[in-house]
Amino acid sequence: MNRFFSADIIRNFQSQESRNFILEVRPHAALGSALPGQFFMLKQAGAVDPLLMRPFSLADFIPPNENNPNGSLMFVIHAIGRGTNILRRLPKGTLLTVIGPVGAGFPPVSEGETLIIVAGGIGIASVFGLIFKYPGVPLFYGVRTKELMIDSGLLNYPQDKLHIASDDGSVGDEGSVLDLLERYLERDGAIHSGGRLKIYACGPHSMYKAMAKMALDADVYVSLETPMACGVGTCLGCAVETVGGLQMVCKDGPVFNLKDILLDG
Ligand SMILES: Cc1cc2nc3c(=O)[nH]c(=O)nc-3n(C[C@H](O)[C@H](O)[C@H](O)COP(=O)(O)OP(=O)(O)OC[C@H]3O[C@@H](n4cnc5c(N)ncnc54)[C@H](O)[C@@H]3O)c2cc1C
Ligand code: FES
Repeated sequence: MNRFFSADIIRNFQSQESRNFILEVRPHAALGSALPGQFFMLKQAGAVDPLLMRPFSLADFIPPNENNPNGSLMFVIHAIGRGTNILRRLPKGTLLTVIGPVGAGFPPVSEGETLIIVAGGIGIASVFGLIFKYPGVPLFYGVRTKELMIDSGLLNYPQDKLHIASDDGSVGDEGSVLDLLERYLERDGAIHSGGRLKIYACGPHSMYKAMAKMALDADVYVSLETPMACGVGTCLGCAVETVGGLQMVCKDGPVFNLKDILLDG
């Protein structure tokens, strides 16, 4: 069930050289559990600029402690436009209005299934929850250039499981992260036989189109980061074409099976 609640910022961390920042907020109400891939709508309480809330995936939930009896929610955000740049400058103590958790997250991985995570750009924020839930699964992370990578300290990942690519070769292998994935699957394909491979991905539309062409022998689930207005299924602004007709990304997604969405629609 979607919930409106207030929260205050307890950490707004950014490094000088990056437009990515970490926002940690303390909800003023106890929350139910949130699945990886679900998201929250955020805005400064009472603000009219921007008027609409903005959607962000839950990167991590820090359990309740003495200071934060309802726990805290952590978001990893790339400042891209007006709303995110305003959020980036809000000081500790600022009151926010929040809705969430919203939408359907990534389905659970059953015993015997193999999971691979793929992230393109700030799509890494949406798969953070998966990284914490399934530590050490192979993670493929592609960025345009090194400066757009999230703070590497955040991604304290086993090096033999982390496969990084960048368009300009400034970090990891030069080229597409999907080329890395393809080579990995060719090399280690034997362990993925029997159709028990799951690939969970978040990235740009172009990445999903390329993945659809790869004819992967896997169940591929992707999180669609469509711009949203209401975030709760009433404005119809986030409609996406699927094999079953129009669906709302905020209510029916944001996670969809790749084979169900019509990417050219
Ligand atoms: C379910 C979901 C989860 C998300 N999770 C995260 C997250 O964890 N971290 C994060 O940094 N971002 C996330 N996003 C994207 C984030 O919501 C947008 O970047 C943000 O709303 C932009 O707001 P703005 O006011 O800064 O930009 P605007 O001023 O509204 O737009 C600036 C530019 O960004 C483009 N833009 C706006 N929204 C999107 C979008 N969703 N996808 C691609 N381009 C867009 C606009 O067309 C415009 O060119 C998520 C989006 C969705 C739908
Ligand atoms: S954002 Fe309004 S229906 Fe999805």
